[in-house]
Amino acid sequence: VSTNNQKNTKQPHFIVLAAGKGVRMRSAKPKVLHQVCGVTLLERVLYACAGLAPKEISVVTGNKRELVEAELETIQKREYFSKIKISSVFQKEQKGTGDAVISALEQIKGNPELFFILPADIPLLSKETLEVALNSWKENKCPEIFLLTTYLDDPTGYGRIVRDNDGSVQAIVEEKDCNAEQRAIREVNTSIYIVKPEFLRSAVKTLNSNNSQGEFYLTDIVSVAYQNKQSVCAEAALNGIEVAGANSRFELAELDRLRRLQINIHWCDLGVSFEDIEQAYVDERVELGEDCFVGANTRIQGDTKIANNVVIEGDSLITESTIDSGTRIKLGCYIEESSIGKDCTLGPFCHIRPGTILDEQVKIGNFVEIKKSHLQARAKAPHLTYLGDSTVGENANVGAGTITCNYDGKNKFKTVIKNGAFIGSNSSLVAPVVIGEGATVGAGSVITKDVPDSALAVERSEQRMVNNWKSKKSKK
Ligand code: UD1
Ligand code: CA
Repeated sequence: VSTNNQKNTKQPHFIVLAAGKGVRMRSAKPKVLHQVCGVTLLERVLYACAGLAPKEISVVTGNKRELVEAELETIQKREYFSKIKISSVFQKEQKGTGDAVISALEQIKGNPELFFILPADIPLLSKETLEVALNSWKENKCPEIFLLTTYLDDPTGYGRIVRDNDGSVQAIVEEKDCNAEQRAIREVNTSIYIVKPEFLRSAVKTLNSNNSQGEFYLTDIVSVAYQNKQSVCAEAALNGIEVAGANSRFELAELDRLRRLQINIHWCDLGVSFEDIEQAYVDERVELGEDCFVGANTRIQGDTKIANNVVIEGDSLITESTIDSGTRIKLGCYIEESSIGKDCTLGPFCHIRPGTILDEQVKIGNFVEIKKSHLQARAKAPHLTYLGDSTVGENANVGAGTITCNYDGKNKFKTVIKNGAFIGSNSSLVAPVVIGEGATVGAGSVITKDVPDSALAVERSEQRMVNNWKSKKSKK
């Protein structure tokens, strides 16, 4: 038997509890799929676990299992999790955290050295805290149970850590089962445990649901150990906020606000300025370059990448996009799944819809909507325009009020405007149509036929003149 093999079987095995209904959230969506700064609670906790490079993480699913498993599939595909097997174990009925672990143990194969058990609803958890817990477990001579606790000014809702006269942990008592004296205890259970497998397997057999919630509490393994004179060790987490649960919308909002501030401070350290650091909503996976400016009330979401020297004046939403250096996003822009080149100016008030590519120095003005279009270098659409399914060549000028008529009610068609073309104001380009290089479209034209290079196309009835019209009328 190779040592390598032995190593593989002696690793911490993570059990993440994610089967609960999350009743206090009052949501059709499972609690663990709610998000903090654009990332689900579940992914956040798994991310912290992944920091310890385990081989496998078992996630207990149950309530709306399909939705949680779909999220697990998405998470599994991320680079960060490429070396870790995330598997789902099923808890048939949500009979409590103890029952969740019983279900997990029935389905987990292999012989890990220890189980790391944690809930999926503590989104600000970091890998450092898990490392500290693991090291403490080892330093304390590997007790049967190692418990991470924390002290809270307001312990409402958490299980209280009850210690005996010697200071040994005797039990964890849930809020609803506490007497007045226990309720006053400020040391609480974080639900992060390191447990030896043999002990865990035997202890969960003794769990019952004789408590105010009629559930099988995992917390009761502590009193089992205490009664059997087995070792329990409990230490307080360094940063209480990391183990705060998001059980209600309010707790979720609070944690989201805290994380948002952490993210913004991180970007400040890397050279980003904020008009108002509390009024910028930058998601977890966003990247911002040096000397960027983020104006108030800006939302930057998804896998958006923003290069150096980009100014976002504010009141904008940018999602799943890239923005190259030197670009200015004026007030009130909405940009989705698009790629914006260097030194462009956008807005104020424009809508850049999915599939748009702007090359360098493109200028998009107010009240312009662009969908699935490619505008090449220095092209301009400064006012009141809709460009859909189109390409606009270098230096082309799209006049105010130009509309590409790309949809006949059934199918979409393409418009091609070649380099240097000039589209006069208030023109309709009925696709499919090509406007040639250097061609001009006269203002107010409805263009239905291709325009050759360098030609002028005008489509409008001739202006009629009735002389002295006003004086004739006034004679009547
Ligand atoms: C739990 C602890 C409490 C601790 C708190 C810290 C118990 C009985 N209580 O309370 O001592 O202070 O966490 O955050 O353990 N879950 C399942 N299956 C179930 C029930 C729950 O998988 O049948 C999962 C949930 O999805 C959740 C986690 O277990 O991720 C914790 O459940 P939750 O209902 O949030 O427990 P708390 O009341 O917060
Ligand atoms: Ca909880």
